[in-house]
Amino acid sequence: MTAEYRSVRGMRDLLPEETRRWRELENSVHGIMARWGYGEIRTPVFEQTELFTRSVGEDSDIVSKQMYTFQDRSKTSLTLKPELTAPVMRAYIQHRLDRMGVLTKLYYIDSLFRRERPQAGRLRQFRQFGAEAIGSPHPEQDAEIIALAFRILKELGLESLTLQISSIGSPKTRARYRDVLLRFLSDQRDKLSRTSQERLKTNPLRILDTKDPEERRILREAPSLLDYLDHEDLAHYRTVKENLTGLDIPFEEAPILVRGLDYYSRTTFEISHPELGAQNALCGGGRYDGLIQDLGGEPTPAVGFATGIERVLLALEKTTPSPAESPRDIYVVAATGTVIQAVSKLAAQLRDAGFTAQFDTLRRSLKAQMREANRLNCAHAVIIGEEELGSEQVQVKNLTTGQQLKVKMNSLVSYLANSAGPPSSSD
Ligand code: HAM
Repeated sequence: MTAEYRSVRGMRDLLPEETRRWRELENSVHGIMARWGYGEIRTPVFEQTELFTRSVGEDSDIVSKQMYTFQDRSKTSLTLKPELTAPVMRAYIQHRLDRMGVLTKLYYIDSLFRRERPQAGRLRQFRQFGAEAIGSPHPEQDAEIIALAFRILKELGLESLTLQISSIGSPKTRARYRDVLLRFLSDQRDKLSRTSQERLKTNPLRILDTKDPEERRILREAPSLLDYLDHEDLAHYRTVKENLTGLDIPFEEAPILVRGLDYYSRTTFEISHPELGAQNALCGGGRYDGLIQDLGGEPTPAVGFATGIERVLLALEKTTPSPAESPRDIYVVAATGTVIQAVSKLAAQLRDAGFTAQFDTLRRSLKAQMREANRLNCAHAVIIGEEELGSEQVQVKNLTTGQQLKVKMNSLVSYLANSAGPPSSSD
C-alpha cells in the first residue's frame, strides 16, 4: 500500500505501541495532580485570536510567526491554541471561578499548535500537561508550583533534571530596566537583526530571548535585570529560593529568563534535561500577576507551568527502558469453524470477568490461531472444540510453559485468575 495522504508536517500519529506509554504518563499526571489538590480543566481547541495577541504578546515569536490563524465564515479571526495559560484564564474569568474559593488550582493535559520548524522534540502539534494556581501573590505559591513541576518529572522516572529560576521583577521594575536596556542596545543597533531592530521600538525586553548567536554575544555585556530588582522583588525572589531549598528541590539561578511569552512578572523558571539536545526545555513557567486583569478580570495574581509531553517521553526513552508488558491476556481459539459462536461468547464472558480476551474473526486454522496468540504475547490460549463443547470443558494452554490441561467451563474464570494473576484494569 502506498499512502496518498500523509499527516501534515510536524503533526504525528500516535500508534498503539506509543499510546500505551502516553496513557501511563497521563494516568500518573491525573493521579499526582489530584494528590496536590488541582482540578482538571479542558478548554476548546481554538479561541479568538485577540486572546493570544493580548496575552502572549504581539512581538513574541508565537504570535508573530507561529500561530495557526484563520477566519471562520462570519469573518471572526480564530486561532488554534498555541498555549494554555491564556485560555485557562479566559475560562477563569468567564465562569467566575474566583467564586470557587480564594485560591483556584487548575491543571490540564492538552494539544497545542505552533508553526515552528519541526525537528526532534519540536512539533507543530504537541501536547503539554500543566497547572495554574490562581489567587496567591506569595512566594510559597511559586515554590509549590515549581515543586509540583519538578516532582511530576521525578515521579515519571526522570533523573538529571536541571531547574533554572530567575526573577524578571514587577512591571515597574521592568519599565525602569527597559530604558537602560534600550540605551545599551541602541548603541549596537547596526549589529542587530531586522526583527530585533523592530523590537527595539516595540518591546526591547523580547530581544533578551533571541536565539541569534551574535545577539547573544552582545547581550552578555548588557546590564543585568537582576541588578534592577527592587526591594519587594528581591524579598519575593529570596523567599521562593528559601522555600525550594526547604523542599529539597535543587535549582540554579539563571541571570535572566525572559521566556517566550510576555505575560510573566517576577518568578520565571525552566526545567531541562541533558539528553534532549537542542530542544532540551522540558518545562517552563512563572508568575503572571497582571494577565487576568489584562484580559478584563479583577486584578488576580497567578503562577503556573507547562511541560511538553513529547519531550518527557523522548527523555524517558533515552534513559529508562520501556517496561515489558507482562502476559496476562487470553486468546480463545476455535478448534473447528463450527464452534465460533461459542468462542465469541466465551471471549465476552471473560471480558465481563475482567480479562483481556480476543478471538479470531478471519476463520484461520487452529495452528494459525495459536501462532497469533503467541504473537500477541497472550498468557493463555483457551481452546474450544466440538468435543469440549459437548462436555462443558475447554483446553487451557499456558503459552509460557507450554503446559495444557482440561478445565471445566464453570471453573475457568477462577482457574485463569489464579494462574494468570488477577485481572488488572490499569491498561
Ligand atoms: P512554553 O515554554 O512555551 O510555556 O512551553 C512549555 C513546554 O512545552 C516547553 O518547555 C516544551 O517542553 C513544550 N513545547 C513548546 N513548544 C513545543 C513544540 N513546538 N514541540 C514540542 N514541545 C513544545 C508555555 O506554554 C506557558 N503557557 C507555560 C506556563 C503555564 N506559564 C505559566 N503557566
